[in-house]
Amino acid sequence: MNLITSDKGKVLSGMRPTGPLHIGHLFGALANWKRLQDEGYQCFYMIADWHALSTEYQNPGEIRNNTFEIALDFFSCGLDYEKSVVFVQSMVKEHAELNLILSMLVPIPWLERNPVYKEQMQQLQERDIATYGFLGYPVLQAADILIYRAEYVPIGVDQLPHLELTREIARRFNYLYGNYFPEPKELLTETPKVPGIDGRKMSKSYGNAIFLKDSDEQIRAKVSKMFTDQKRLYRKDPGHPDECAVFDYRKLISKQYQQIKQQCLKAEIGCVECKKQMAEELIEYLEPIQKKRKELEKDAEQVWEIVREGSKKASSVAEETMKGVRKLVGLEI
Ligand code: TRP
Repeated sequence: MNLITSDKGKVLSGMRPTGPLHIGHLFGALANWKRLQDEGYQCFYMIADWHALSTEYQNPGEIRNNTFEIALDFFSCGLDYEKSVVFVQSMVKEHAELNLILSMLVPIPWLERNPVYKEQMQQLQERDIATYGFLGYPVLQAADILIYRAEYVPIGVDQLPHLELTREIARRFNYLYGNYFPEPKELLTETPKVPGIDGRKMSKSYGNAIFLKDSDEQIRAKVSKMFTDQKRLYRKDPGHPDECAVFDYRKLISKQYQQIKQQCLKAEIGCVECKKQMAEELIEYLEPIQKKRKELEKDAEQVWEIVREGSKKASSVAEETMKGVRKLVGLEI
């Protein structure tokens, strides 16, 4: 099996398949994942379907289809299955075994005091997530990372408490059974600001997202509704580009954004015009991604085959780790 090994170190990250990806994921995470892949790290990128089940278990019907959609998004945004191991969590059963073993040694208060847990319990009140599995979410996440003995985990700041717990769990395992797991470090790249069309953080649940697979018409319609500079009441007023969501995008995708900034500051360009330009630029930017997506979409079976292959590769690494774990805890088979 051709598994790229590299002395740069191992990277693992994952996303939950709860819906199609939007451009916040592209600029915030995927671009970074691709960079690490291209710089020669040994990368493992996972579609965390068990994690999705922890909040969607009452309504799991979409998880499989979302897994497929995310696989399309991953590959069309440049993750390369020949360079990175792209896999589905539930296809690598070793994650469940390590999760089980770790769950024996994780004190419940560590989980109960986790700020992400507390916040989600409050926010997702319409769903019954007072479950064993949801409380144990970070233990499974620790297993995801430790099973590859990954050194680096590219994540957003919201995931930091989980990574801290992963380190604590690794330390406790190492203390009890012998030094085995490296303590993984976060790779926080400064995530560019990618606001949603209403200016809040882009999120599917806020209904303010532009999806990677949106049609040109959908993109034009969404961009035309975007909030711009709240302080600029009239076309003749000078603008405040640094306080404008549209300008946040133009910084990301327009080569001449400096020039646009000057035009805005001098009221040489209006918001309507600026949004029109931006919509066309975004459409152009997404065009190669969408083209690739459409091609891949034609052969669903091939996409599944690719992630099955990726999962086999992941499994072979995970199985090696598990051999050591079983030995250390005295349950060698
Ligand atoms: N909890 C992460 C999220 O919601 C997804 C995830 C699962 C993950 N396992 C992981 C991220 C391991 C990094 C490493 O975004």
